[in-house]
Amino acid sequence: MYKPRLFAPGPTVVPPETLLELARPVTHHRTAEFRDTFKQVTELLQYVFQTKRPVYTMTGSGSLAMEASVANVVAPGEKMLAVVGGKFGERWQKLGLAFGANVITMTIPWGTAVTADQIAAALKKDPDIVAVYVTHSETSTATAIDLKAIAAVVAKTPAVLVSDCITSIGAMEMRMDDWGIDIPVTGSQKALMLPPGLAFLSCSEKAMAKIAKTKAHVFYAKIPAYEKSLADWDTPYTPANTLILALRTSLNMIKAEGLEKVWTETAKRAKAVREGSKAIGLKVFSQSPSDSVTAILAPDGVDGENLYKTLYKSYGLRLAGGQDSLKGKVVRFSHMGYVDAFDTLAQVAGLEMACRDLGAKIEIGAGVAAAQKVLASS
Ligand SMILES: Cc1ncc(COP(=O)(O)O)c(C=O)c1O
Repeated sequence: MYKPRLFAPGPTVVPPETLLELARPVTHHRTAEFRDTFKQVTELLQYVFQTKRPVYTMTGSGSLAMEASVANVVAPGEKMLAVVGGKFGERWQKLGLAFGANVITMTIPWGTAVTADQIAAALKKDPDIVAVYVTHSETSTATAIDLKAIAAVVAKTPAVLVSDCITSIGAMEMRMDDWGIDIPVTGSQKALMLPPGLAFLSCSEKAMAKIAKTKAHVFYAKIPAYEKSLADWDTPYTPANTLILALRTSLNMIKAEGLEKVWTETAKRAKAVREGSKAIGLKVFSQSPSDSVTAILAPDGVDGENLYKTLYKSYGLRLAGGQDSLKGKVVRFSHMGYVDAFDTLAQVAGLEMACRDLGAKIEIGAGVAAAQKVLASS
């Protein structure tokens, strides 16, 4: 039997309990029932964001929350710092340009992490930068940054720190309030175990003060409108209420497991894939690997696109390939959400088998054994 398994870094697999919620009849959103659900969901979102601040839910993919965090914060002509070390960092730069910001781009080699010192130097050079845009887990290169250290640097300046946490929230340690992240943004189809369609962001008091004095050229994603509606557990426009209802189920699963445990287990799965891959002679692309997604370089003589296609066609494992300069070079595995140790072993086993099918000299089982050792360790 051919059994497809979704292991791409988004969309990720949705738990059956959540899928059942999605099958319920559509209800109306301007009701006490919806407001009650939305209150519960918002409080659960505050838990995964690790914040006491309100979390705003927008109907759209994660990029909508990114757009909101640029359009509401940076007025045309104001300086923003965009750190670009991959495809999603590039999105910050493009958004800044689209909204008329004076974008200072810091280009980082793909697969490396920007440091707090580099951010401090950029802010020293251009003290009129009003906001710094980083990517906590750069999915295109499977690279994580030290967001806590960066936040400590930005907190000492008037600038607002905005972080794309689309593949970190709910998968990797991210503490909005304790670390001082002014605006973390995420989307529904990654670690939050939901289909695509919802975008989330929260804003610190410092961020809200900047938003209040910024004349934003934005309508649907105008943050103060979401703030006003949320005071009544409501949304300014028709929300994807079916998704919001289902989100309660997925977030309750995270809460029941415990966020810290979810972080630890995600990290363990990532380590297992890294160790399993190394044991069969493959290399991890990133020098600062993320725990939510791993990029493995295809072995010499094997085309990464072919590897990605073989993994799906022959073994049903739906991964992601490489983007832009990494196209044909890497395959990317997700460790987020509704996956367990046995899914992880299947990822490594599939990698071994597909590489061997494509002519690489692989000792079948060596990778699985190394991965299993990591997964079995306490
Ligand atoms: C780190 C990161 N940022 C931004 C995005 C874009 O999110 P969306 O496709 O939900 O708009 C993604 C999606 O893969 C991502 O992984």
